[in-house]
Amino acid sequence: MERLEGRVAFITGGARGIGLGIARALAQNGVKLALVDIDRTALNAAHDELSASSPTTVYQLDVRDREAYAHVADEVEATLGPVSLLFNNAGVAGEPPTDQLTYEIWDWTLGINVFGVVNGIQTFLPRLISRGGDAYIVNTASGAGVVMAGAGLAYTTSKFAVVGLSEALRQKLAPRGIGVSVLCPGYVATGIAKNSASLRPSRGSPPSSAPVSAHAAAKRSRAAASFAGGASIDAVGEMVIAAMRARQFYIFTDDMVGEFVERRNAEIGAALARAPRINKAST
Ligand SMILES: NC(=O)c1ccc[n+]([C@@H]2O[C@H](COP(=O)([O-])OP(=O)(O)OC[C@H]3O[C@@H](n4cnc5c(N)ncnc54)[C@H](O)[C@@H]3O)[C@@H](O)[C@H]2O)c1
Repeated sequence: MERLEGRVAFITGGARGIGLGIARALAQNGVKLALVDIDRTALNAAHDELSASSPTTVYQLDVRDREAYAHVADEVEATLGPVSLLFNNAGVAGEPPTDQLTYEIWDWTLGINVFGVVNGIQTFLPRLISRGGDAYIVNTASGAGVVMAGAGLAYTTSKFAVVGLSEALRQKLAPRGIGVSVLCPGYVATGIAKNSASLRPSRGSPPSSAPVSAHAAAKRSRAAASFAGGASIDAVGEMVIAAMRARQFYIFTDDMVGEFVERRNAEIGAALARAPRINKAST
């Protein structure tokens, strides 16, 4: 992915946070931007900011809505030209304790974090392939997509799915020349906790007036401090572009999950060492 200038990027969750950081970095490299997001106010602010540096269109879209997704893709391509950079980034986080999880929270988390990515691929992949495959896809997962390091059950499930999907997609698309990366951020200074809380379905979430235990309040303020102390969205945007240029598959924004990954790999390695040998010559 040497030439970025003049390309069209489609970024989900592009109005705020990491998506906005990626959009800024792309704009600096002469890329035209289509930002989609569920939040109209944030989209307008992003449009005001970015249209000064690069042609920018914004669309309010719920990435779970497949029909609307296809319409928006058509409109973007009619306005800006063919999309060749796809960022499946929109995501939500935050859930009740495991024993209080509901189907509504599972559906919401997997619907956006997993099926939002699937819908992006289903919408754009035939277009990218029919145009010869000079294209790149970046899926946003999380450090929580390669190891369990304390995130919620539904969130961890969703992000492991995005990593698995991305690994498979990379292999399937390699013969076509389409690049794939998976972004696995550690903490990034975004408003994801607050933004997601305002989008979470009310069934399955504690009412905002519900009393919060001292333990839960302390956990929440530790998490807020961790996000605030995380990488900047602009630094993450730069990392993503550098990784695309180098065709680097995994993009970690810090080494926070490193020791968890080592432990996981060691456990898997030990279990494999005890597993029955197969005769490779006969397979
Ligand atoms: N911030 C972090 O520390 C962190 C860490 C690991 C992974 N991530 C992942 O990075 C991605 C971006 O998160 P962020 O931190 O920038 O959060 P953010 O809340 O700042 O940005 C996410 C954007 O997605 C949008 N969105 C939510 N639901 C949507 C839907 N149904 N359809 C369309 N847009 C929708 C939101 O309105 C928001 O603008 C997510 O996939 C998240 O899981 C973030």
